[in-house]
Amino acid sequence: IILSWLLRLKHLPLACSITTMAVRVWCRSLLSDYREACRDMVVGARERPLKASLYAVALGGGWFCFHSQPGQSEFQAALVERSNQLGLLSPWTRSAASDAHVQNLVKLQSQGRLRLLSLGLLSVVYGVDHDPDTTLYEAQCSSLSAPWREIPHRVLDVGFCWRWWVLESKMKDYDVNEEEFRHLPADMQRTSPPGLQGVQRNESLHRQSWLPLPVGEERQEPEGVLICSRLER
Ligand SMILES: *[C@@H]1O[C@H](CO)[C@@H](O)[C@H](O)[C@H]1NC(C)=O
Repeated sequence: IILSWLLRLKHLPLACSITTMAVRVWCRSLLSDYREACRDMVVGARERPLKASLYAVALGGGWFCFHSQPGQSEFQAALVERSNQLGLLSPWTRSAASDAHVQNLVKLQSQGRLRLLSLGLLSVVYGVDHDPDTTLYEAQCSSLSAPWREIPHRVLDVGFCWRWWVLESKMKDYDVNEEEFRHLPADMQRTSPPGLQGVQRNESLHRQSWLPLPVGEERQEPEGVLICSRLER
Protein backbone atom coordinates (compact mmCIF):
# COMPACT_ATOMS: atom_id res chain seq x y z
CA ILE A 1 0.00 0.00 0.00
CA ILE A 2 2.88 2.37 0.86
CA LEU A 3 4.50 1.35 -2.40
CA SER A 4 1.35 2.26 -4.27
CA TRP A 5 1.30 5.64 -2.55
CA LEU A 6 4.84 6.31 -3.63
CA LEU A 7 4.27 5.25 -7.21
CA ARG A 8 0.88 6.78 -7.51
CA LEU A 9 1.78 10.02 -9.23
CA LYS A 10 3.91 8.69 -12.06
CA HIS A 11 3.03 5.06 -12.72
CA LEU A 12 -0.53 4.59 -11.56
CA PRO A 13 -1.42 1.48 -13.61
CA LEU A 14 1.88 -0.20 -12.75
CA ALA A 15 1.44 0.53 -9.05
CA CYS A 16 -2.09 -0.87 -9.11
CA SER A 17 -1.03 -4.07 -10.75
CA ILE A 18 1.89 -4.48 -8.33
CA THR A 19 -0.31 -4.01 -5.27
CA THR A 20 -3.07 -6.29 -6.49
CA MET A 21 -0.48 -8.95 -7.26
CA ALA A 22 1.09 -8.55 -3.85
CA VAL A 23 -2.32 -8.81 -2.14
CA ARG A 24 -3.18 -11.85 -4.21
CA VAL A 25 0.08 -13.59 -3.33
CA TRP A 26 -0.32 -12.76 0.34
CA CYS A 27 -3.91 -14.06 0.43
CA ARG A 28 -2.93 -17.22 -1.37
CA SER A 29 -0.06 -17.96 1.02
CA LEU A 30 -2.29 -17.24 4.00
CA LEU A 31 -4.96 -19.61 2.72
CA SER A 32 -2.45 -22.33 2.01
CA ASP A 33 -0.98 -21.89 5.51
CA TYR A 34 -4.43 -22.29 7.06
CA ARG A 35 -5.14 -25.28 4.84
CA GLU A 36 -1.88 -26.91 5.94
CA ALA A 37 -2.60 -26.23 9.59
CA CYS A 38 -6.13 -27.68 9.32
CA ARG A 39 -4.85 -30.74 7.51
CA ASP A 40 -2.17 -31.25 10.19
CA MET A 41 -4.83 -30.93 12.88
CA VAL A 42 -7.13 -33.49 11.25
CA VAL A 43 -4.29 -35.91 10.61
CA GLY A 44 -2.99 -35.51 14.17
CA ALA A 45 -6.50 -36.02 15.62
CA ARG A 46 -6.91 -39.17 13.55
CA GLU A 47 -3.54 -40.52 14.71
CA ARG A 48 -4.07 -39.73 18.39
CA PRO A 49 -7.80 -39.54 19.08
CA LEU A 50 -7.40 -39.62 22.89
CA LYS A 51 -5.02 -36.67 22.98
CA ALA A 52 -7.18 -34.73 20.53
CA SER A 53 -10.34 -35.34 22.55
CA LEU A 54 -8.54 -34.32 25.75
CA TYR A 55 -7.49 -31.06 24.09
CA ALA A 56 -11.02 -30.51 22.80
CA VAL A 57 -12.50 -31.10 26.27
CA ALA A 58 -9.96 -28.74 27.87
CA LEU A 59 -10.66 -26.05 25.28
CA GLY A 60 -14.42 -26.46 25.57
CA GLY A 61 -14.22 -26.45 29.37
CA GLY A 62 -12.12 -23.29 29.34
CA TRP A 63 -14.52 -21.59 26.95
CA PHE A 64 -17.50 -22.64 29.09
CA CYS A 65 -15.87 -21.43 32.34
CA PHE A 66 -14.93 -18.12 30.73
CA HIS A 67 -18.49 -17.49 29.61
CA SER A 68 -20.17 -18.74 32.77
CA GLN A 69 -18.17 -16.80 35.33
CA PRO A 70 -20.47 -14.31 37.08
CA GLY A 71 -19.50 -10.66 37.51
CA GLN A 72 -20.01 -7.78 39.90
CA SER A 73 -23.64 -7.10 38.99
CA GLU A 74 -24.49 -10.80 39.35
CA PHE A 75 -22.98 -10.81 42.82
CA GLN A 76 -24.99 -7.77 43.85
CA ALA A 77 -28.17 -9.32 42.48
CA ALA A 78 -27.51 -12.59 44.33
CA LEU A 79 -26.77 -10.73 47.55
CA VAL A 80 -29.95 -8.64 47.33
CA GLU A 81 -32.02 -11.72 46.56
CA ARG A 82 -30.55 -13.66 49.47
CA SER A 83 -30.95 -10.83 51.95
CA ASN A 84 -34.58 -10.43 50.83
CA GLN A 85 -35.15 -14.12 51.39
CA LEU A 86 -33.75 -13.82 54.90
CA GLY A 87 -35.71 -10.63 55.54
CA LEU A 88 -38.99 -12.42 54.85
CA LEU A 89 -38.39 -14.76 57.78
CA SER A 90 -38.93 -13.94 61.42
CA PRO A 91 -35.72 -13.72 63.48
CA TRP A 92 -36.72 -16.94 65.28
CA THR A 93 -36.66 -19.05 62.15
CA ARG A 94 -33.56 -17.60 60.47
CA SER A 95 -30.36 -19.58 60.43
CA ALA A 96 -27.82 -17.57 62.42
CA ALA A 97 -24.91 -18.61 60.16
CA SER A 98 -26.67 -17.55 56.94
CA ASP A 99 -27.82 -14.31 58.52
CA ALA A 100 -24.35 -13.39 59.81
CA HIS A 101 -22.71 -14.14 56.46
CA VAL A 102 -25.21 -12.13 54.41
CA GLN A 103 -25.24 -9.23 56.87
CA ASN A 104 -21.44 -9.06 56.78
CA LEU A 105 -21.47 -8.98 52.96
CA VAL A 106 -24.16 -6.28 52.89
CA LYS A 107 -22.22 -4.20 55.41
CA LEU A 108 -19.00 -4.46 53.39
CA GLN A 109 -20.84 -3.59 50.21
CA SER A 110 -22.50 -0.54 51.71
CA GLN A 111 -19.07 0.62 52.88
CA GLY A 112 -17.65 0.09 49.39
CA ARG A 113 -15.18 -2.51 50.65
CA LEU A 114 -16.08 -5.42 48.39
CA ARG A 115 -13.79 -6.06 45.44
CA LEU A 116 -14.23 -8.46 42.56
CA LEU A 117 -11.26 -10.08 40.87
CA SER A 118 -11.84 -11.85 37.57
CA LEU A 119 -9.38 -14.69 37.09
CA GLY A 120 -10.49 -15.61 33.59
CA LEU A 121 -12.13 -18.92 34.48
CA LEU A 122 -13.63 -17.86 37.82
CA SER A 123 -14.34 -14.71 39.80
CA VAL A 124 -13.28 -14.05 43.36
CA VAL A 125 -14.93 -11.58 45.74
CA TYR A 126 -12.77 -10.30 48.58
CA GLY A 127 -12.94 -7.60 51.21
CA VAL A 128 -10.52 -4.69 51.61
CA ASP A 129 -9.93 -2.40 54.58
CA HIS A 130 -10.98 0.86 52.96
CA ASP A 131 -13.09 2.16 50.14
CA PRO A 132 -10.54 3.46 47.58
CA ASP A 133 -12.81 6.46 46.86
CA THR A 134 -12.31 7.85 50.35
CA THR A 135 -9.51 10.36 50.82
CA LEU A 136 -8.30 8.92 54.10
CA TYR A 137 -4.53 8.62 54.33
CA GLU A 138 -4.82 4.89 55.09
CA ALA A 139 -7.00 4.36 52.02
CA GLN A 140 -4.69 6.25 49.65
CA CYS A 141 -1.23 5.23 50.84
CA SER A 142 -0.13 2.31 48.68
CA SER A 143 2.34 1.05 51.31
CA LEU A 144 -0.53 0.51 53.74
CA SER A 145 -2.86 -1.28 51.34
CA ALA A 146 -3.39 -5.01 51.71
CA PRO A 147 -0.63 -7.02 50.01
CA TRP A 148 -1.53 -9.48 47.27
CA ARG A 149 -0.51 -12.49 49.30
CA GLU A 150 -3.21 -11.65 51.86
CA ILE A 151 -6.02 -11.90 49.31
CA PRO A 152 -6.56 -15.67 49.88
CA HIS A 153 -7.42 -14.94 53.54
CA ARG A 154 -9.84 -12.20 52.55
CA VAL A 155 -11.76 -14.18 49.95
CA LEU A 156 -15.47 -14.09 50.72
CA ASP A 157 -16.89 -15.83 47.68
CA VAL A 158 -15.97 -17.69 44.53
CA GLY A 159 -18.05 -17.33 41.39
CA PHE A 160 -17.95 -20.18 38.94
CA CYS A 161 -20.46 -21.60 36.50
CA TRP A 162 -23.16 -18.93 37.10
CA ARG A 163 -23.06 -19.55 40.84
CA TRP A 164 -21.61 -17.97 43.95
CA TRP A 165 -20.49 -21.07 45.77
CA VAL A 166 -19.84 -19.77 49.30
CA LEU A 167 -23.08 -17.78 49.36
CA GLU A 168 -25.07 -20.78 48.16
CA SER A 169 -23.49 -23.09 50.71
CA LYS A 170 -24.07 -20.60 53.55
CA MET A 171 -27.71 -20.21 52.48
CA LYS A 172 -28.38 -23.93 52.69
CA ASP A 173 -31.24 -24.44 55.20
CA TYR A 174 -31.37 -20.67 55.82
CA ASP A 175 -34.86 -21.11 57.29
CA VAL A 176 -33.74 -23.49 60.04
CA ASN A 177 -32.66 -21.90 63.29
CA GLU A 178 -30.07 -24.29 64.76
CA GLU A 179 -30.26 -22.51 68.13
CA GLU A 180 -33.83 -23.75 68.54
CA PHE A 181 -32.71 -27.35 68.71
CA ARG A 182 -29.64 -26.88 70.89
CA HIS A 183 -31.45 -27.79 74.11
CA LEU A 184 -32.96 -30.99 72.75
CA PRO A 185 -31.48 -34.33 73.84
CA ALA A 186 -28.73 -35.59 71.56
CA ASP A 187 -30.80 -38.35 69.95
CA MET A 188 -33.54 -35.88 68.99
CA GLN A 189 -31.09 -33.38 67.50
CA ARG A 190 -30.03 -35.89 64.93
CA THR A 191 -32.51 -36.70 62.21
CA SER A 192 -31.94 -39.37 59.64
CA PRO A 193 -34.07 -40.18 56.62
CA PRO A 194 -36.45 -43.08 57.40
CA GLY A 195 -35.82 -46.44 55.81
CA LEU A 196 -38.16 -47.87 53.20
CA GLN A 197 -39.32 -50.81 55.30
CA GLY A 198 -40.11 -48.65 58.34
CA VAL A 199 -42.17 -46.29 56.18
CA GLN A 200 -44.05 -49.19 54.55
CA ARG A 201 -44.81 -50.75 57.93
CA ASN A 202 -46.09 -47.46 59.35
CA GLU A 203 -48.16 -46.83 56.21
CA SER A 204 -49.77 -50.25 56.41
CA LEU A 205 -50.47 -49.70 60.14
CA HIS A 206 -52.02 -46.34 59.29
CA ARG A 207 -54.22 -47.93 56.60
CA GLN A 208 -55.31 -50.62 59.03
CA SER A 209 -56.36 -47.95 61.52
CA TRP A 210 -59.10 -46.81 59.06
CA LEU A 211 -60.72 -50.26 58.95
CA PRO A 212 -63.89 -50.69 61.02
CA LEU A 213 -63.58 -52.85 64.11
CA PRO A 214 -64.75 -56.42 63.59
CA VAL A 215 -67.96 -56.31 65.68
CA GLY A 216 -69.36 -59.75 64.96
CA GLU A 217 -66.25 -61.75 65.85
CA GLU A 218 -65.78 -60.41 69.34
CA ARG A 219 -64.85 -63.80 70.78
CA GLN A 220 -61.60 -64.09 68.82
CA GLU A 221 -59.76 -61.13 70.35
CA PRO A 222 -59.91 -60.09 73.95
CA GLU A 223 -59.47 -56.37 73.08
CA GLY A 224 -62.34 -56.52 70.61
CA VAL A 225 -64.54 -58.08 73.27
CA LEU A 226 -63.82 -55.26 75.65
CA ILE A 227 -64.59 -52.49 73.16
CA CYS A 228 -67.71 -54.20 71.82
CA SER A 229 -69.08 -54.86 75.25
CA ARG A 230 -68.48 -51.19 76.07
CA LEU A 231 -70.28 -50.15 72.90
CA GLU A 232 -73.25 -52.36 73.73
CA ARG A 233 -73.50 -50.88 77.16
C1 LIG B 1 -43.21 -45.40 62.57
O1 LIG B 1 -44.09 -45.10 63.65
C2 LIG B 1 -43.47 -45.05 64.93
C3 LIG B 1 -44.56 -44.81 65.95
O2 LIG B 1 -45.38 -43.75 65.61
C4 LIG B 1 -42.42 -43.93 64.94
O3 LIG B 1 -41.77 -43.88 66.18
C5 LIG B 1 -41.41 -44.19 63.85
O4 LIG B 1 -40.49 -43.14 63.79
C6 LIG B 1 -42.11 -44.37 62.51
N1 LIG B 1 -41.13 -44.78 61.52
C7 LIG B 1 -41.00 -44.16 60.38
C8 LIG B 1 -39.95 -44.69 59.50
O5 LIG B 1 -41.70 -43.22 60.05
